[in-house]
Amino acid sequence: MEPYTAPRGTFDVIPGASGEERWRNSFLWQHIESVLRQTARDFGFYEIRTPAFERTELFTRTVGEGSDIVSKEMYTFIDRGDRSMTLRPEGTAAALRSFIENRLDQTPYHKVFYIAPMFRYERPQKGRYRQHHQFGAEVIGIASPEQDAELIAFAYTIYQKLGITALNVNINSVGDLESRTAYKAALSAYLEPRLQELSEDSRERFSKNMLRILDSKAPQDQEILKTAPKLLDFLSQTAKSHFDRVLSLLTSLNIPYTIDPKLVRGLDYYNHTVFEVTSTGLGSQNAIGGGGRYDGLVKELRGPDLPSVGFGMGLERILHTLLHAGAPLPSPDAPALFLIPMDDKSAAVALEIALKLRRAELYTEIDLSLKKIKHGLKLASDLGALYSMVIGETEVTSQKGSLKNMATREAREISFAELEVVLKSALR
Ligand code: HAM
Repeated sequence: MEPYTAPRGTFDVIPGASGEERWRNSFLWQHIESVLRQTARDFGFYEIRTPAFERTELFTRTVGEGSDIVSKEMYTFIDRGDRSMTLRPEGTAAALRSFIENRLDQTPYHKVFYIAPMFRYERPQKGRYRQHHQFGAEVIGIASPEQDAELIAFAYTIYQKLGITALNVNINSVGDLESRTAYKAALSAYLEPRLQELSEDSRERFSKNMLRILDSKAPQDQEILKTAPKLLDFLSQTAKSHFDRVLSLLTSLNIPYTIDPKLVRGLDYYNHTVFEVTSTGLGSQNAIGGGGRYDGLVKELRGPDLPSVGFGMGLERILHTLLHAGAPLPSPDAPALFLIPMDDKSAAVALEIALKLRRAELYTEIDLSLKKIKHGLKLASDLGALYSMVIGETEVTSQKGSLKNMATREAREISFAELEVVLKSALR
């Protein structure tokens, strides 16, 4: 019979994953998540958690019918009540639905973040999964370019704190509706006579989602795009001054960026500022984060007319980047004490000792297999325990044992009652 394996494009996060698979080590995930949570706190973002699935319409209306996500990648199913449901392919629509439904606009909590799995039926490769995880942040209700700058500074600080130094922040403005209407007319007039020379994908996008042609990697498209009209030349006065202000704020905050006039992003809801962060260490899947402003979306979801801006970053790609760059990463905690009882009577005593130490927040482990001392010592050493103590009949009677330093192999006699004080001072 075939063994059970994780579905294609998905993976397990497990303790002890090492070598090539170290990015799946649960300790590293916990580390990254704790940096994310801490930085979110420092920037004033509050956590929201939304269901893993939503009504399909929530995503088709926001991410856009013409986007790759909606047209090819969604995990959509009909539930037993005959409703069309979709596993969340991205976090923004779900966050907004929750924000509106829970009337968060009436509270001080208008800056929210989430850490959650996202589901996209893509062709799996390194850095591209069918279930990936995003840290996302959304600010709802503030239209100023200062808010865009604060958000980008937040994203940038996260990468810095995690130890990612080799990165590019690419930024562009897709303007307001007025700018885009003018630009689309110019782009369409330019591309129409050249339609037959474009790649098949781009020909399809011409009618469905013209701006996405700018994103095309196909060489023949790139050639044609070289002399195409530039979006930035079509910005309205309002859009241009918004963009210029964001750029000057980034400069004064010392956040390096590159203007990428072709950056349009793959989701339909953006206006004004869009940005994407790429890591120089990764191959083709090098976008480690992206986001932008999406002012009309809350209203589109029948909420109040509130402007918004946000970003999402892929945790898998962050981990690949960190490991590729050999960035310093913390190692998992090791037990302060590893107890090895020899029989059931000593095991009962070991449980009591361990409970007392654990309540005092000392990481204590016991070999409850009651096998040979050798078995316990091997486990203690595999877990990197600092000290071990074997407990048998003699130790139970005398209420003391030999506390062995696993690194130096030195041992000294310590009474059970003294263990907490001795271990705490050794750990200081
Ligand atoms: P997105 O660019 O589609 O934006 O995804 C954000 C990040 O998630 C990407 O930059 C990448 O790091 C990661 N990512 C996306 N797809 C995959 C995949 N298949 N495998 C691994 N990682 C992936 C959004 O989803 C927007 N909701 C971001 C946003 C929030 N915009 C405004 N607010």
